[in-house]
Amino acid sequence: MTLCPDSTLSLVSPSISDRQQVAPLKLGIMASGNGSNFDVVAQAIQDGQLNAQIQVLIYNNPSAKAAVKAANRGVKSVLLNHRNYKSREEFDEKIVQTLRQYDVDWVIMAGWMRLVTSVLIDAFPETIINIHPSLLPSFKGIHAVEQALASGVKITGCTAHIACLEMDSGPILIQAAVPVLPDDTAETLHARIQIQEHRILPLAIALAACRFKI
Ligand code: GRF
Repeated sequence: MTLCPDSTLSLVSPSISDRQQVAPLKLGIMASGNGSNFDVVAQAIQDGQLNAQIQVLIYNNPSAKAAVKAANRGVKSVLLNHRNYKSREEFDEKIVQTLRQYDVDWVIMAGWMRLVTSVLIDAFPETIINIHPSLLPSFKGIHAVEQALASGVKITGCTAHIACLEMDSGPILIQAAVPVLPDDTAETLHARIQIQEHRILPLAIALAACRFKI
């Protein structure tokens, strides 16, 4: 470890050689849709900005484009279709089993459109990160962008946070603000929010894994 020069705060930062010795984070990514957030995490890893590897992508929707993106990047993906399970708990048990099978230590919900249960949350305590298209605690749940538009707020955004049992709740890691423009539709606003999601999600993973006190 190297002391930052001239620091009055006694900040310590790992030297380059220390950083190289740190084992990559082993990520399991869960996605239901397009997988653009999956892709930016994979790209950040490829670019050397995030010291991690994606062990597996779990997707629940057979037509999820995220699976195609995983295949394009040579990432193993597993389809777990929630319709094949009797309860949310049984579904989450299968997810946990799969994440363990792939030796995952951080779980990233990157557009995971299912409510999760204590089965998943308790299996990965404080190591599940969710990305949500609003400035939480405003506009939880689905249609967050539409909710923001309908409310008349002039600024919305996105939040990366540690997931806990209550939907779209838990310690906030990073947020980014996005202005709502007068002629915005849900599509145009969501597209601008996603640009910010793609900036903050890889950063949030690095931040959370460094175990900074939030
Ligand atoms: C993102 O807007 C995310 O915040 C929300 O679902 C969307 C997923 O987008 N939870 P993508 O599948 O990563 O492109």
